[in-house]
Amino acid sequence: MTGSRNADSATANGGQCPLSRMAAEFDAFSGPYQVDPADALRWSRDQLPVFYSPRLGYWVVSRYDDIKAVFRDNILYSPSIALEKMTPAPPEAMEVLKSYGYQLNRTMVNEDEPAHMERRRVLMDHFLPENLEAKQEMVRRLTREKMDAFIDSGRVELVDAILYEVPLNVALHFLGVPEDEIETFRKFSVAHSVNTWGKPTDEQQIAVAHSVGQFWQYAGKIIERMKLEPDGTGWMHETIRKNAEMPDVVTDSYVHSMMMAIIVAAHETTSLASANMFKTLLTHRQAWEDICADPSLIPNAVEECLRFSGSIVAWRRKTTAAARLGDVDLPVGAKLLIVQASGNRDERHFEDGDRFDIYRDNAVDHLTFGYGSHQCMGKNIGRMEMRIFLEEFTRRLPHLQLAEQEFAYLPTTSFRGPEQVWVEWDPSGNPERNDPQIANTQKHFPVGPPSRRDIARKVRVVDIRSEADNIIGVSVEDAVGRDLPGWSAGAHIELCSDGYDRKYSLCGPADANGYDIAILREENGRGGSRHFHEALAKGMELRLRGPSNLFRLDETASHVVLLAGGIGITPIVAMADRLKQLGKTYHVHYCGRSRGSMAFVDRLEEDHGSCLTLHAGDEGKRADIKAIVEGLPDGGQIYVCGPDRLISAVEKWTADMPDGTFHFEHFTSNATGLDPDKENAFEIELKDSGLTLTVEADQTLLDTLLSAGIDLACDCREGLCGSCEVEVLEGEIDHRDMVLTRTERAGNRRMMSCCSRSMRGGKLKLAL
Ligand code: FES
Repeated sequence: MTGSRNADSATANGGQCPLSRMAAEFDAFSGPYQVDPADALRWSRDQLPVFYSPRLGYWVVSRYDDIKAVFRDNILYSPSIALEKMTPAPPEAMEVLKSYGYQLNRTMVNEDEPAHMERRRVLMDHFLPENLEAKQEMVRRLTREKMDAFIDSGRVELVDAILYEVPLNVALHFLGVPEDEIETFRKFSVAHSVNTWGKPTDEQQIAVAHSVGQFWQYAGKIIERMKLEPDGTGWMHETIRKNAEMPDVVTDSYVHSMMMAIIVAAHETTSLASANMFKTLLTHRQAWEDICADPSLIPNAVEECLRFSGSIVAWRRKTTAAARLGDVDLPVGAKLLIVQASGNRDERHFEDGDRFDIYRDNAVDHLTFGYGSHQCMGKNIGRMEMRIFLEEFTRRLPHLQLAEQEFAYLPTTSFRGPEQVWVEWDPSGNPERNDPQIANTQKHFPVGPPSRRDIARKVRVVDIRSEADNIIGVSVEDAVGRDLPGWSAGAHIELCSDGYDRKYSLCGPADANGYDIAILREENGRGGSRHFHEALAKGMELRLRGPSNLFRLDETASHVVLLAGGIGITPIVAMADRLKQLGKTYHVHYCGRSRGSMAFVDRLEEDHGSCLTLHAGDEGKRADIKAIVEGLPDGGQIYVCGPDRLISAVEKWTADMPDGTFHFEHFTSNATGLDPDKENAFEIELKDSGLTLTVEADQTLLDTLLSAGIDLACDCREGLCGSCEVEVLEGEIDHRDMVLTRTERAGNRRMMSCCSRSMRGGKLKLAL
């Protein structure tokens, strides 16, 4: 296997430097990776995000963006090896498998295009949110029955008592598969996991091969039984009917392979994820108590558990041509282990990524379900089950505790969850003993990703001060005295009070226990800043979302120019602090009407005096943008935050500079909201999902996609943050965002789904 890394540091598969040693010693089946895969790959995320592991024979990919890029391109990065045995079987085991006629072939997971999408399209309906709603009652009933059996016992092992069987029952019901042989499924599916993703010894390989062979034959028999019920309900019945209707698309081999693979996919991952979830939440007691007190936090707590400790740790792909990932050149045929658990903790995407934080407002961006056209079709079933588990447990057993125990995990590269989770509680404290109604006061969660509205932590205002004319500085801390999450320069939070939700950049200093922001009173704005100026008072409690960072500083730039206009100084001051801390060369240009209207001038002069130029208009010191841009050395970058005209000016003068030179953040949007009388409805075709949808005149593209079950991140919903971007393959875009540069708009390949539309109602084809 060959490949090259163009950076100055280590080559991945040779040499003696520490990084090469780490790569050479990487072991996915034992040691740190089995204890905590995200932590085991921290060094890789920081220094060598794509490396070759000679022990594994795979290239390991550890950063969020790289993993997403691999998932996104399922042509260059083929999923064909996703179900290949990690540890090749000895000839004797192969003989055993052969004796059972075992021929696991392509399934939804490891199918290449175009067959994959053709099948996915015809088999997708059962997974749509509107068709899953009706299943909630069944999941609730199963959960309650299991809980009733142990609620008065005071101690139980959760996996055995509920977390295995409920997902398995739900999976069988969803698939329409007979539910009479749960124990057989259990034995077989563990064997399938070990066979595919584990490292059995040669001796174990023989035993595993027998179980897998029997599972294969058993799956075949079930299909024959199901064929006798042509009107049967459930997804596998539908698959069998489609096999009869269109055998070229849904082939016999596919039906048999899928029957075996989906039983594992449909319940094992949810069981393991649920076990991880209880362990994580009961270990982070404050989070558990928060969701007991406010069940509306449950959907996001589930996403954060999936991010922090998901059941799918890594997945596999193979290059179909020479590829470049990050700064590594990969040869054709390179096998990749893409470690979602590592990407899920990547600080480049998740602020304070190692922290478990149920208030994290981009937790839903986790990669545990994969991404793109191969994203887990059953994600909303898993979410639904995990939410119902939590809702029932936090209401009926809020005093649940984790018992003393050692946790054991099955050693595989890809799945992770404790084999047992022992919990205990005092049954005399069960709330329903005093109030039997508690058992029935359940909360319903709609199927799909969590509602962003519910994700906000409580903070208290500890200081309000004047920073300049019409600008107040506000300091907040956690309402009950906990630490607030860490953040990086460029990050913002969203302050929520009395129906006003407004974003403000964090100004620092970054090591404070609380957050500092600055708010400019805008008389002609939408009312948020006026509200906060008038309503905020010391000691007041309010809600806060974030922090999130969509204006990240590239700390590797050779030189950085920071350019702020007016209140745009807020992220810039934090960036200047960070660059100084790193010992980087930088210069701050700060433009304003007059010194009196400019916040943080004293602090900037004190901390960054030699790297600061103030451009106060009333002193006749206007900034010469052209000269500032022309002064940028090779490899330098420029960050701008301020009014549109400032950003446009820099954009104009940097137009011919290399990509990645110019970064900007608007602090207000021009979005005026949808006026259905002036809008056209338009059609969209989703290439990966195979759907054609209509975006009505009173709907955004984002809302249309979300209601069709397509998960898409979104933060601001007003064209400011870039989180809802989609790739456009065909059609003309009417851009209405504040994110893309002029060149990017002209390229007609990217659009912000929260605000931009099609030009004159024409059809758009999207890479979704
Ligand atoms: Fe922020 Fe669309 S959600 S740009």
